[in-house]
Amino acid sequence: MSRRAQAPAPTIDVARAREEIPGCANVIHFNNAGASLVPRPVLDTVLDHLRLESSIGAYEAAEREEPALERVYDSIAALLGARRDEIAVVENSTRAWDMAFYGLRFEPGDRILTSAAEYASNYISFLQVARRTGVVIEAVPSEPSGQISVEALEKAIDPRVKLISLTWVPTNGGLVNPALEVGAVARRARIPYILDACQAVGQIPIDVTEIGCDVLAGTGRKFLRGPRAVGFLYVRREFLEQIEPPFLDMHAANWVARDRYEMRPDARRFENYESNAATKLGLGRAVDYALGWGIEAIQDRAWGLAVVLRERLARLPGVTVRDIGTEKCAIVTFTVEGRDPESIKSALAERRINVTVTGVLGARIDMEDRGLTTMVRASVHYYNTEDEIERFCAALVG
Ligand SMILES: Cc1ncc(COP(=O)(O)O)c(C=O)c1O
Repeated sequence: MSRRAQAPAPTIDVARAREEIPGCANVIHFNNAGASLVPRPVLDTVLDHLRLESSIGAYEAAEREEPALERVYDSIAALLGARRDEIAVVENSTRAWDMAFYGLRFEPGDRILTSAAEYASNYISFLQVARRTGVVIEAVPSEPSGQISVEALEKAIDPRVKLISLTWVPTNGGLVNPALEVGAVARRARIPYILDACQAVGQIPIDVTEIGCDVLAGTGRKFLRGPRAVGFLYVRREFLEQIEPPFLDMHAANWVARDRYEMRPDARRFENYESNAATKLGLGRAVDYALGWGIEAIQDRAWGLAVVLRERLARLPGVTVRDIGTEKCAIVTFTVEGRDPESIKSALAERRINVTVTGVLGARIDMEDRGLTTMVRASVHYYNTEDEIERFCAALVG
């Protein structure tokens, strides 16, 4: 979703933000799309709960902290403009997405429409389900800018289309797909719409009603700056009965008679019994922390830094900035003539600068369409600075 035409977002107090991040003293962290540096309040939340578990017992700690654990659902609901009974907290974004996707039913000849930038794990799931059911997968053409063509999507709709699946922000670059416009098409055609918001959440304001998605998957560790291995699923209340969780356990359902179970009435039917209370609390704290700064303020600052980084990179000899799309986010990708992205990553790591390498295995269709195999991915966040960008560029050519 693009910045809203409202009052200007408050600016970020970068000095305060950095004071709250132990890692800023050690590294230039341009891998926020991999896993961001966790701020102290999140770190403390996780560690405090682990300490409580070790001092009174883990189940007992969960009981004591139940009100706080319940508030995690309110926090995520507030982040998404959703209701708390539409939220499930699971291990990661992939598992959240899977729990919804594998709960859909397809017949031979049904069609799944997706885009060139679809995330590999989602596409692999399509391929598996296509092999089992005969469903047909189609990547809708992109516009010249690189984003999904909403016009082509609209033209592709027919009664056999049973799912529209979109990766909002891909793993391999700054592209921001038009999630809202795709939602409008899905709503008009009454086709289920599943949105992979893994790379978007924390850097783009989200309102699920405005988007019109039935399902949204997100993760904690990236732009939300939460702990690893915790994510969440949103399922629109009215859509809940249209998907059956592919797995059920005694948390998702009650064994009410020898031959009968009853599923929970809310989205927690997609969760499982055993979960990590410390990271769940950490996720809730990360959401509150992000909301405290304001997602629009975060977006303004992080996207502004990415613009600066792209401009600076474009001036360096041999560097080609690779981001596509009419709207670009905080993820910056580039290649350097004659240099392998992995060796660039290692050289930067020696100077305590973190980036990652993104490759064809993460988003095959888009990478092949552009004739690319690997790129360096530098993803900035609101706590990064212009000075870090200067040092990064100097290290790249130095
Ligand atoms: C677009 C996209 N979707 C989903 C995922 C998977 O997220 P998780 O590792 O939390 O399952 C990623 C991870 O990088 C991603 O980039």
